[in-house]
Amino acid sequence: MSPSAKYLDDHCPESINLHLQPKNANMGYNLLKGKRGIIFGALDENSIAWKTALRVKEEGGSFTLTNAPIAMRMGKINELAKECNAEVIPADATSEQDLTQLFTRSLEVLGGKIDFVLHSIGMSPNVRKDRPYGDLNYEWFLKTLDISGLSFHKVLQTAEKTDAMNEWGSILALSYIAAQRTYPDYSDMAQAKAVLESIARSYGYRFAKLKKVRVNTISQSPTKTTAGAGITGFDVFYDYANMMSPLGNATAEDCANYITLMFSDFSRMVTMQNLMHDGGFSSSGITEELVARLSK
Ligand SMILES: NC(=O)c1ccc[n+]([C@@H]2O[C@H](COP(=O)([O-])OP(=O)(O)OC[C@H]3O[C@@H](n4cnc5c(N)ncnc54)[C@H](O)[C@@H]3O)[C@@H](O)[C@H]2O)c1
Repeated sequence: MSPSAKYLDDHCPESINLHLQPKNANMGYNLLKGKRGIIFGALDENSIAWKTALRVKEEGGSFTLTNAPIAMRMGKINELAKECNAEVIPADATSEQDLTQLFTRSLEVLGGKIDFVLHSIGMSPNVRKDRPYGDLNYEWFLKTLDISGLSFHKVLQTAEKTDAMNEWGSILALSYIAAQRTYPDYSDMAQAKAVLESIARSYGYRFAKLKKVRVNTISQSPTKTTAGAGITGFDVFYDYANMMSPLGNATAEDCANYITLMFSDFSRMVTMQNLMHDGGFSSSGITEELVARLSK
């Protein structure tokens, strides 16, 4: 036993000791004990929302799960629901009516107001159908903006109108650094992410004043999921980002941990931020690995 562990063993009551050192890897810290929420966007076991649901459960949170009705048929959300003892409530995040039903039903099912919401939603028909940026279909562009950007405003507005949030609640959406820098194949999703991050600032102000609710976006490293793999050349920019990040790319599990922290009371004064969760990518100019790779 290390000297510090021995000191703790000798001097700390058992409860404190347990707090510092969970007995096994599957035991959480009860960071979200008693908290209730809604998790959007778990499609399959690779989804960031899927990993988040498992992590939040482990930390004592309870929640409803939701996804677009069509994804419900393609995905495996019911498996996750069973594992998490959560009810699934289908909702297209672009439909105000669906969202109102989702929030109303969630309040009933969970037995009280909500402490956390995860918006983990992204889709671009132009990306999916490989349209070049100089030949975009504008109807699809509007769909991209609606599904991947505006839907966040709809979620926030519905939360306000149904008076669903508890004070000091936390609402998060997932973003990508293409909102600030150009990645050619990210196409119109870059504009959707810029809208998403801007909504977090504007609604974050409003919700802080109204209810002390915080609203943030997390800008995540490239991650191997269905949405990620839909981008042309994904594997190359995944490897590039990994090489450009001193800590390497953040995984979906890392992201789930960060989301859990942001839902917990340890982040009460963080709001209206776009939080970089990228292993240092956004602050790096070049790395030794890239210099070595590019040297003749
Ligand atoms: N994978 C990455 O490289 C990466 C990097 C940074 C940010 N993100 C963001 O993370 C979030 C989650 O994506 P993911 O990587 O876990 O992929 P994913 O494909 O598992 O999740 C995307 C989800 O959006 C849902 N969705 C699409 N249209 C919807 C609609 N109309 N209503 C409700 N839900 C709808 C899908 O059904 C799916 O569950 C997205 O916002 C994505 O842009 C992903």
